[in-house]
Amino acid sequence: MKFFVDTADISEIRELHEAGLLDGVTTNPSLVAKSGRDFKEVVKEICDLLPGLPVSAEVTATDYETMMAEADVLAAIADNVVVKVPLTLAGLKACKALSDKGVKTNVTLCFSANQALLAAKVGATYISPFLGRLDDINLDGMQLIQDIRVIYDNYDFSTQILAASIRSANHVSDAALAGADVATIPPAVLKKLADHPLTDKGLAAFVKDWESTGQSIL
Ligand code: E4P
Repeated sequence: MKFFVDTADISEIRELHEAGLLDGVTTNPSLVAKSGRDFKEVVKEICDLLPGLPVSAEVTATDYETMMAEADVLAAIADNVVVKVPLTLAGLKACKALSDKGVKTNVTLCFSANQALLAAKVGATYISPFLGRLDDINLDGMQLIQDIRVIYDNYDFSTQILAASIRSANHVSDAALAGADVATIPPAVLKKLADHPLTDKGLAAFVKDWESTGQSIL
């Protein structure tokens, strides 16, 4: 499973990239607003930090023509920009036009298997089902990932399933079990994946026993 980090915070991206944990980045307008930075500047900085790795940057228009104009600007920022479009009829039309031009796409705000089917049919590079937001309204986000996996496998669609709106470590392992190709994970959750109380307990015991030997490796 590939790991993307879901943030527009450069220092978080740098830290996780230096730890060798990142295969890409996703941003959205809310994350950009939270960063308080200029959108195009941030996207450029992230792309430079992770050359060759996919960086999703989202259009903000809702009509096809303006989406396409924005997509041109975003795609020109760097070769590794993936243009993110919403799962609407206009967004699907933009996805088709961008895919035909060889631009990588991420269709976002997916909440149903039929929506995912449409995204695959228009050649999306990634489909982003939002797990957490479905769970928030008492629907089953993980079931959606499982359903999309079956549908894509039935028809050999190459669109990658990008599990999004991840809220917990369990979401990550469950999405991996369900066959998601990628998970885009908030920085705090990604760091938590390494935690286990028995690891902490075991390490404390090793350190204590080692100290009792009075030895040093260096
Ligand atoms: C995906 O690309 C979105 O940026 C993100 O995962 C949304 O997560 P949220 O529902 O926690 O805002």
